[in-house]
Amino acid sequence: MTGRMAGKVAVVTGGAHGIGAGTVRLLHAEGARVVIGDLQADDGERLAAELAGAGGGVVFVRTDVSVEADVARLVDTAVERFGRLDVMFNNAGIIGAVGPIDRTSLADADLTVAVNLRGVLCGMKHAARVMKPQGSGAIISTSSPAGLMGGVGAHVYSGVKAGVIGLSNSVAAELRQHGVRCNVIVPGAVVSQMTAGLVAGGADDLAGAEAALDRSSYMGRALQPEDVARGVLYLASDDASHVTGIVLPVDAGMTGAGGPSAMAAEEHAAQGGLREAGRRTS
Ligand SMILES: NC(=O)c1ccc[n+]([C@@H]2O[C@H](COP(=O)([O-])OP(=O)(O)OC[C@H]3O[C@@H](n4cnc5c(N)ncnc54)[C@H](O)[C@@H]3O)[C@@H](O)[C@H]2O)c1
Repeated sequence: MTGRMAGKVAVVTGGAHGIGAGTVRLLHAEGARVVIGDLQADDGERLAAELAGAGGGVVFVRTDVSVEADVARLVDTAVERFGRLDVMFNNAGIIGAVGPIDRTSLADADLTVAVNLRGVLCGMKHAARVMKPQGSGAIISTSSPAGLMGGVGAHVYSGVKAGVIGLSNSVAAELRQHGVRCNVIVPGAVVSQMTAGLVAGGADDLAGAEAALDRSSYMGRALQPEDVARGVLYLASDDASHVTGIVLPVDAGMTGAGGPSAMAAEEHAAQGGLREAGRRTS
């Protein structure tokens, strides 16, 4: 480890599991003090206790990110306990409403928006309250390939994850003059409770999720939370000192490269390597 987060204080929402927990561990290993916010109190407390044995400086605050008072208290805890706030990772999320658009429950949609978009907005608002006067900070929010393309996520989830990108870019334009950066991370399919509930035997079947995602991976193995955490660490650290208003995919090229390239197949080289309509069309 490089100690590049030494002296920094981070808040991680959805930090009890998956990508959030992986990021808590990495930021802490790099020297940060971390406040974990999550609905799942037992697991959040357990992670904080585990890291207390590895140097401490980690506290858990039970938080529902869709409740503004909870998010305000989460941010205030960072300031009260550790004196400042350098990193706000708005990461808590749910899949939320699923199914055909003509049968979508608006109540389920409201909850999806409340957690995945309103929750991010709350995080940005209360982080900015501290970071603006401080004159520095990094806000990172978790979107999804579903926020960039159709066909890979539920409808409402896709809409709000696109909204996270719009919100982040807009806030980036305001906060840069205050020394505060605002960026988005886009994880590909990551082994977590969320994907285990979709591709394996249930939220606790992480081994099943890993096996299924290994098989469908473009790069030979499934993404783990730690792979995404390293992207978050970059955006959180001074290495990204002038990086703001970006979307960083950590997705094995899912959004940028798409699927396997038919035009790069070996057989094309054997046939001369050129397609030119009219003269050499084989
Ligand atoms: N796993 C993937 O393949 C994937 C891909 C793209 C984006 N994402 C996004 O990454 C983020 C993390 O997902 P994950 O895969 O680690 O899932 P996960 O289910 O393992 O972790 C999500 C965490 O958020 C917490 N949470 C849920 N609702 C909350 C609320 N209202 N308030 C506070 N905490 C709440 C959960 O308790 C859990 O600890 C989410 O925003 C998700 O949409 C995940």
